[in-house]
Amino acid sequence: MTTESRQVRLDLMVSGMLSCKACPLSSNRTNVVPGTGPADAEIMFIGEAPGAKEDTQGEPFVGQSGKLLDALLSSIELDRNSVYITNTVKCRPPNNRDPLQSELDTCQDHWLDAQIAIIQPKILVPLGRHALNRILPGTTIGQSHGKTFTKMGFTVYPIYHPAAGLRQIRYKQLLEEDFKNLNILLKSYEKSQDVQTTSQAPKANIPSSNENNSQINLF
Ligand code: URA
Repeated sequence: MTTESRQVRLDLMVSGMLSCKACPLSSNRTNVVPGTGPADAEIMFIGEAPGAKEDTQGEPFVGQSGKLLDALLSSIELDRNSVYITNTVKCRPPNNRDPLQSELDTCQDHWLDAQIAIIQPKILVPLGRHALNRILPGTTIGQSHGKTFTKMGFTVYPIYHPAAGLRQIRYKQLLEEDFKNLNILLKSYEKSQDVQTTSQAPKANIPSSNENNSQINLF
């Protein structure tokens, strides 16, 4: 698919999203938050759900978590305009509650899977456990963050949600390490377009999965 046709398809999808009433979240929203970034982005981040600021502005990650995400991106010389950022659900759950299973399923069936199929990112990055559960059900963020997986031809590289890094320094450090390795992974793709996906990211600094993590499912 050319970049142009990707963009056309994404724009069409976004205009459909703007009038979506497929689940009850639509009745409380101020704005739909479809996602931002180029249709041919190499990295696609998937967060959990829009919060109050995102609902007001119609853009993902524009609050405190977004500031940390921007800082992490800039630590590897990327900015948000060069990556695609979206969420598991496109409308804010009331009072920032967790999205319900039915809302997650509906939004994934209507939008998320198709969004991934259009963008075809080289690296798909679920941010935190809610997004991870959509992409790699049955895995925990504590065990899988900073490692690579293959799902339907995509490289999946789970990372903690930035909100975790705002709450505890330990998670901020893990986020920083995982972003460094995301950069290494991205560079390895840029060097060789047809690199074979393996079950592990490039060797440098990959954290092991057996970290002593008592809060594995918090974020
Ligand atoms: N903002 C978003 O858009 N998504 C999140 O998961 C958190 C904050």
